[in-house]
Amino acid sequence: MMDQAEELRSILKRQNPIKSNARVITVTSGKGGVGKSNISVNLAITLKRLGKRVIVFDADFGLANVEVLFGVVPQYNLADLMYKDKGIKDILSKGPLEIEFISGGSGIQELTNLSIDQVHYLIQQLGEIDELADVIIIDTGAGISNSVLEFVIASSEILLVTTPEPTSITDSYALLKALNRNKGFSKELAQIKVITNRVSSENEGREIFNKLSTVSKKFLDLDLEFMGAVTYDLNLQKAVMEQRPVTMLYENSNASQDINNIAKRILDIEIQTPKKGIAQMFSRLIKLKLTK
Ligand SMILES: Nc1ncnc2c1ncn2[C@@H]1O[C@H](COP(=O)(O)OP(=O)(O)O)[C@@H](O)[C@H]1O
Ligand SMILES: [Mg+2]
Repeated sequence: MMDQAEELRSILKRQNPIKSNARVITVTSGKGGVGKSNISVNLAITLKRLGKRVIVFDADFGLANVEVLFGVVPQYNLADLMYKDKGIKDILSKGPLEIEFISGGSGIQELTNLSIDQVHYLIQQLGEIDELADVIIIDTGAGISNSVLEFVIASSEILLVTTPEPTSITDSYALLKALNRNKGFSKELAQIKVITNRVSSENEGREIFNKLSTVSKKFLDLDLEFMGAVTYDLNLQKAVMEQRPVTMLYENSNASQDINNIAKRILDIEIQTPKKGIAQMFSRLIKLKLTK
């Protein structure tokens, strides 16, 4: 007799990953409050303006960040899909510029408690958003907790946000170290990109990246890639107070221009990894949780 975990694993192995070209970018950090949610929603807006179909997935279980910054209260979240027979389209909410987003809500923490049928349903439904998006941006909490770490491990493109604060840099390194130590993590498959936020100049941002990248290469044999810096900008803070993304409220502010440059750089980078789509990513995530 197979036990439930074993049966689930074999289903996940068999389940033909839906052929998808959706790029999944997971935004994370070592420390909280460094700008992940702002970068997630503003990148989404910028990528949308650049002609991409974008979906944002809010996977920060504690704080409902994306909805606050979009100024929209979603009716349903991932838990409603898993437990209340909602379909993926029911749990998509519309933010500015018609950008759709999914609120993970309590659904993320429940992933280990799902029955085989529920896992099947979840992965199949997520496969549908892979068809609706060119880019899926996942906003996570700070990556030191185990559940966030699993999310990051299951991702192919990781966008690590750090600030010039010494604690942010050391926590970023701690996150990379924890990733590297984890058995589920594959150096070859993961692409780790770095954004430095709240910098006084592009130069400062690059210097911070260089420091982090040098120690990561030397001690962890990890290659990091610089995506750019976002200026410390009071306009961004004002926009947060208004519950509007800075790229909409202050389109020409420094922060907005920086994010625009980063979005273009992200689009310039060819993806070589075969790990594509959010259905596959969740499939890996559930497998990771089951093999613990
Ligand atoms: N580039 C920036 N310039 C000025 N303030 C910023 C910038 N980025 C973030 N902040 C401030 O930091 C706060 C936390 O940002 P947030 O995106 O919620 O971080 P996280 O999601 O990492 O916890 C914001 O509400 C804003 O006040
Ligand atoms: Mg956040």
